[in-house]
This record gives sequence, C-alpha cells and structure tokens, in this order.
Amino acid sequence: MMSEITVDGKLTLKKGASSKILMKYMDHATEILLHQTRAACDAIMVGSRTIRIDNSYLTVRLVEGKSPLRVIPSSMADIPPDANVLGPDAPTVIAVSKKAPRENVEMLREKGVSVVTVGDDRVDLPLLMETLTDDFGVRTMMLEGGPTLNWHMLHHRLVDEIRLIHLPFIVGGSDTPSLVGGMRIEDESQMIRLSLARHYMCGSNLVTEWRVCYGGGGTSSGGEQRA
Ligand SMILES: NC(=O)c1ccc[n+]([C@@H]2O[C@H](COP(=O)([O-])OP(=O)(O)OC[C@H]3O[C@@H](n4cnc5c(N)ncnc54)[C@H](OP(=O)(O)O)[C@@H]3O)[C@@H](O)[C@H]2O)c1
Repeated sequence: MMSEITVDGKLTLKKGASSKILMKYMDHATEILLHQTRAACDAIMVGSRTIRIDNSYLTVRLVEGKSPLRVIPSSMADIPPDANVLGPDAPTVIAVSKKAPRENVEMLREKGVSVVTVGDDRVDLPLLMETLTDDFGVRTMMLEGGPTLNWHMLHHRLVDEIRLIHLPFIVGGSDTPSLVGGMRIEDESQMIRLSLARHYMCGSNLVTEWRVCYGGGGTSSGGEQRA
C-alpha cells in the first residue's frame, strides 16, 4: 500500500476533493519513486470512488517501464464511461459483484476492459486476490487507496507493507479522508500493529515504510499475493 499523506494523516484537502491537489506538492524525486513503484508491480488497485473523484490514469509515465494491470473494485460496475482508467493506456480489470446491472457490465466490456465477477452483493476482496493470481498472473500489487478500500484490504489481511510519502501540511477536517476509513475499533486488541522497516528522505519528502504485523484472530487469510 502506498499513499501521500499529510502530517495529520489526511489523504486529500477535504471530503470529495481530488488527491491530485495535494500531489502537486510532492517533490519530483518522490513522484519518480511513485512511478518506479508502479513499474515494479504487476498490478495497481484503487477504489471506485477514487476513480470518480480523481479520474486517475494509474499508468507509469515518469520512468521507463510497463504500466501495471489496473484493478478497480466496483460492486455495481458503475464506473463512468469516460473514466481515464477505461482508456487504452494499460490493461484494466473491473471487479464487480453478482448484483452489478448487466448494462453496466456490457458498457465496460465494450470499452475493452476485463470484468470479473467476485462476490454476491459486494466485491469479495480475498476472492479477487485469488482471481488476480490465478487468471492474470499477479504476484505483487500496489494499493493506492482511498481510505475505504484501504480499510477493507487491511481488515482481510491483504496488505503486508505500507509506504507513506509524508507531506509537510496539516489540513484538518473531521470528515476529511484519512489513511484508513472503515469502522472504528472497540479496544486496543483490535489495533493493527506495524513495525518500521525503513525511513529516508526522497528529495524533500520523508518516506516511511512499515511492515504490517497482524496478530491472532482476524477475518481471513485471503489470497496469496498481498498489496
Ligand atoms: N493521497 C492518496 O494517496 C490518495 C490515494 C487514493 C485516494 N485518495 C483520496 O481518497 C478519496 C476517496 O476515498 P474513499 O474512501 O471515498 O473511496 P475509495 O476507497 O477510493 O473507494 C471505495 C469504493 O470502492 C468500492 N468497493 C467495491 N468493493 C469493495 C470492497 N470489498 N471493499 C471496499 N470498497 C469496495 C465501493 O464502491 P461500490 O459500493 O460502488 O462498490 C466503495 O465505495 C478521494 O478524495 C481521493 O482523492 C487519496
């Protein structure tokens, strides 16, 4: 998982705002790091709301290298037809549930992307990871948010490393998207523990890399590959 994050843990300026506004303040060296990381992965995944708000391309542009397979979970297959992620720049998988309306799925297939059905009412993330490994040969995947998808991936223990690009700002806002959304925990036994693997400066940005140390219990061991 890799995110650009303010000192107060936020991923964007305010609810509904594109993270591209904050990303303008990343050092060029860090933008290169982001694109190098994309190029080193077989796949990259973001949530459907990030696609609607940021209209991301998710391609490798600043370094030599192949763009990874773009993966978007969208339970109802409601990705806007003009979304950049549906363009021809890289292969794309849209993961949908059995509840997705047929006309939405047909529109996506006509755009030339792969549509996989995993889950009854909602995209089943552990099953999606297995499908990506078995049918698309994905071994390494980068998760680029947003907070809702980050939470669900962590909840299913599908994230093994978190890399943060720290931006020297405080934006505040109690409903401003932060690194991980989802439901609040009830006590400290539910905290997800991390250990610091590395920290370094990339240009003027501090970068920290964390290993995720899941304790006992939890919900699922998920598929083989992790984000
Ligand atoms: N700074 C950064 O690094 C960064 C990176 C990315 C995003 N962002 C920011 O994050 C914000 C968007 O985040 P968000 O939390 O609103 O949305 P999100 O995490 O991007 O997308 C969440 C959506 O994914 C879909 N989804 C499908 N299956 C799912 C599953 N099993 N579990 C979880 N989600 C599933 C759901 O939509 P359906 O119900 O339609 O399936 C859900 O509403 C934007 O402001 C964006 O700019 C920042």
